[in-house]
Amino acid sequence: MASRKMALAVLVQGTGAHPASWLSTDTQTDASTDIDYYTGIARLAERGRFDLFFIADTPAARTENLHAWSRYPMFMNVFEPVTLLSAVATATRHIGLGGTVSTSFFEPYNVARQFASLDHLSRGRAAWNVVTSANDYAARNFGLNMLPPHADRYARAREFVEIVEALWDTYDDDAFIHDRVSGVNFDPAKFHVLDHHGKYFNLHGALNIARPPQGRPVIIQAGASNTGRDFAAEFAEVIFASDTDVVGGRAFYRDIKARAERFGRSPDSIRILAGLPIVIGQSAEQAEDAYQALQALIHPEVGRFRLANDLEADLSGLDVDQPVPEDRIPTSSNQHQQYFAEIAGMIRQGLTLRQIYMRYERGLRTFRGTPQQVADYMEEWLNAEAADGFMLLFHSMPKGLTDFVSHVVPELQRRGLLRQEYEGATLRDHLGLHRPASRYAAPAQAGSAP
Ligand SMILES: Cc1cc2nc3c(=O)[nH]c(=O)nc-3n(C[C@H](O)[C@H](O)[C@H](O)COP(=O)(O)O)c2cc1C
Repeated sequence: MASRKMALAVLVQGTGAHPASWLSTDTQTDASTDIDYYTGIARLAERGRFDLFFIADTPAARTENLHAWSRYPMFMNVFEPVTLLSAVATATRHIGLGGTVSTSFFEPYNVARQFASLDHLSRGRAAWNVVTSANDYAARNFGLNMLPPHADRYARAREFVEIVEALWDTYDDDAFIHDRVSGVNFDPAKFHVLDHHGKYFNLHGALNIARPPQGRPVIIQAGASNTGRDFAAEFAEVIFASDTDVVGGRAFYRDIKARAERFGRSPDSIRILAGLPIVIGQSAEQAEDAYQALQALIHPEVGRFRLANDLEADLSGLDVDQPVPEDRIPTSSNQHQQYFAEIAGMIRQGLTLRQIYMRYERGLRTFRGTPQQVADYMEEWLNAEAADGFMLLFHSMPKGLTDFVSHVVPELQRRGLLRQEYEGATLRDHLGLHRPASRYAAPAQAGSAP
């Protein structure tokens, strides 16, 4: 029996995923606003036969504690994702292009248009990561004092996605006839106006662009909370998971696929990609040393404020080498519930502030090892059905990705776990996801409708 092939995505964050990556002499300090840098990375990932090039986002700069954030610029100087992906689209041919746009701060009409356009200009390679955002700095950029409650954000996100998907179906696939003889450009019977009146949005209108090549751009989600998982199981086609061991990965995988079935979806209509930060070395010791060298570059104030931000707490004035008093843990969280629980758990174990910030990786754990060990680890997750593939994070870019493409990709291909060549044209083809029929298509034409 042929081996199960994995899906591969890379999360691209400026000079790398590590908070101190920009301090490493391996990286280009001004990479985060250099388009040539990004297209180089996308082409490299394409050489490695990756499915997806992915850009995360929060629409905000931090406006306080700049003594810390000026040492950790990851959120302070970045491209807007869809603009960046549009440029990368024209410099690549195969790789999928995914980006985050928040449902809490934008309007469905804008987002439907942006991703329909990206899907056309990449000829069917667009994916939208639906997030509800978890950042009061972002809220303040959009007329709010703070984030709306977690449950409200997800309720708005549901309505938002339903509208976006309906707008993508404005035109039937064969609406444009471009008939110079009759003088009719598109068939008015194949154009559908949406009339939506809901709790969060009112909209009467239609999208002014043909149905996207993929029918609908691929929907990505990474909800970790109970509400987030339900949302992902109902709508997402690619789900980013964050677990640190194969047992947790399997539990999440089964949980999501079971939830999907409760929403009437086939478990096979979802690809779960486990988040996996990797540092590769010629020996395990070399990989460990490279990782520790980066860890040693984390400034204590950066460590403190990264934790304070995700714990939604004030950690100022604490000695970094003393345990964090439990009374600093807020009674509840409104941002990322999983991150909050992880930090609170380490505080309750009595770890010092420094130990916590050195360990905390937002639900993930960096794998350090040789190319062989990395391939073994990925194969184990795949065979255990803890993932359908991986969202890879590299601490130092492009070095991490170069090492992976040069040394791990050939090994995965040799084992039959990764494609040798792209076989289809669109991101849906790469991922083995069906092309959704329009909601207005006659049932006979609908094929495997969602
Ligand atoms: C690989 C990956 C990428 C993510 N990208 C973003 C992002 O770009 N923007 C964002 O606000 N959250 C991002 N998240 C966070 C999730 O969307 C989500 O908020 C988090 O997992 C907490 O889930 P919850 O909201 O259900 O508690 C990402 C998570 C993972 C695992």
